[in-house]
Amino acid sequence: METVIKGGMIITDKECFKGDILIAGEKIAAVSDSISEQGREVLDASGQYVFPGFIDAHTHFDLEGACRTADDFYTGTRAAIIGGTTTILDFATQDRGVSSLEALQKWHVKADGISSCDYGFHMSFTEWNENLACELPVLAGMGVTSFKLYMAYKNLMVDDDTLAKVMAAVKVTGGITGVHCEEGDRIDQNIQKLLKEGHTSPRYHPVSRPPETEAAAIRRCIRAAQRAGAPVNIVHLSTKAGLEEVRKARLEGQKVYVETCPQYLLLDDRSYDTKSEFEGAKYVLSPPLRKPEDRESLWKALADNTVNTIGTDHCSFNFSGDKELGIKDFSKIPNGIPGVEHRPALLYTYGAMQGKISLNRMVELLSVNPAKLFGLYPRKGTLQAGSDADIVIWNPESEWEIRAEDQIQNVDYTPYEGMKADGRARTVFLRGVKIVDDYKIISEKKGKYIHRGKSIPF
Ligand code: URP
Ligand code: ZN
Ligand code: ZN
Ligand code: ZN
Repeated sequence: METVIKGGMIITDKECFKGDILIAGEKIAAVSDSISEQGREVLDASGQYVFPGFIDAHTHFDLEGACRTADDFYTGTRAAIIGGTTTILDFATQDRGVSSLEALQKWHVKADGISSCDYGFHMSFTEWNENLACELPVLAGMGVTSFKLYMAYKNLMVDDDTLAKVMAAVKVTGGITGVHCEEGDRIDQNIQKLLKEGHTSPRYHPVSRPPETEAAAIRRCIRAAQRAGAPVNIVHLSTKAGLEEVRKARLEGQKVYVETCPQYLLLDDRSYDTKSEFEGAKYVLSPPLRKPEDRESLWKALADNTVNTIGTDHCSFNFSGDKELGIKDFSKIPNGIPGVEHRPALLYTYGAMQGKISLNRMVELLSVNPAKLFGLYPRKGTLQAGSDADIVIWNPESEWEIRAEDQIQNVDYTPYEGMKADGRARTVFLRGVKIVDDYKIISEKKGKYIHRGKSIPF
């Protein structure tokens, strides 16, 4: 049976208006001021906001390093949908000497059949050679149209020449390259020096990765993109200095996209000054949390369009056990924090409700822009006839508190513990199926792999 979502305040990137949405099968059939209820199931959305399903284009589920992430695709995507996120893009990694097609297959095995939201994969290359150059168009044909390169982490990082070569090859396929911009070699030297001086606690993690290690890497990355004549996406940008590099490049006509994450908007390096020495491990991620000034400059950059998307970089490790691997040496603390469950509520509460961004801008940052950049638009990210019926009915009156003991994500803490939230996803549809109702998951494992197309420039 068709469903009409009746009388909600529909929020798109351009407007807010009271209206109805008709769902037929997996798709949105119509959006208008008034749609007949006759012969249809009716969902009363009066007093609620209606958003397009949110997209988190930056997750790491079921990732193995020194230990495995606390969330896999089962728990991570359940956490996504309870918060209103209906599509995630995760990172498959091509290990050195291994085919990227093999890596893609491995990530399908991790995700297929157990995911509760739709999903796709970026491919991270850790090297570049003829074989990979041949595989790249094959990946694009399989719906993998976005790629990531690392400038930090010994086992992942590539040099500037490789950056430029991959960006040029990706451009030919119509895809987009994302880059983790931190100067790996300089950071490794800093770490060795700090450890030698006996500085082993988590508070030295940010000391080893100062803002200049991000800004300098962004500068090099932008130069590589210029040589390649290709667009580039700076992922998880965290500093004011980094934003300035991007603004300079744009003034010179370069196409540079920017992602930031809730943690860089809402937390800062005071989190490392904890009562117990090791508690700061909860906030060990890379890039690290920055200064309050950096937070402020990122909020401004959201408002003035310097930042284009907000992903979480959800990479969860339990404090007990996992993070404790680094109890004697901060450089052995697994890097990453959780966030996939709380991103929409955080941006709604601390962005839209505090007047820092409009609701339309929130939709742009969490839905429309990631959909365009990553080849999902207009299938995903928008409320219009013909799009997938991925819809979030949001109760703006719901006041709640973020607490680890209440969360769905499978990790023993949240970096946002005790923070208040002002709104919440009440009902969520994924391709026309109600998967969350009354704040509870009612249908799981309905997620599908999404075959993505070319990146749409904006
Ligand atoms: O600390 C982080 N961010 N871990 C995840 C991997 C990455 O660099 O995105
Ligand atoms: Zn698959
Ligand atoms: Zn990264
Ligand atoms: Zn990441």
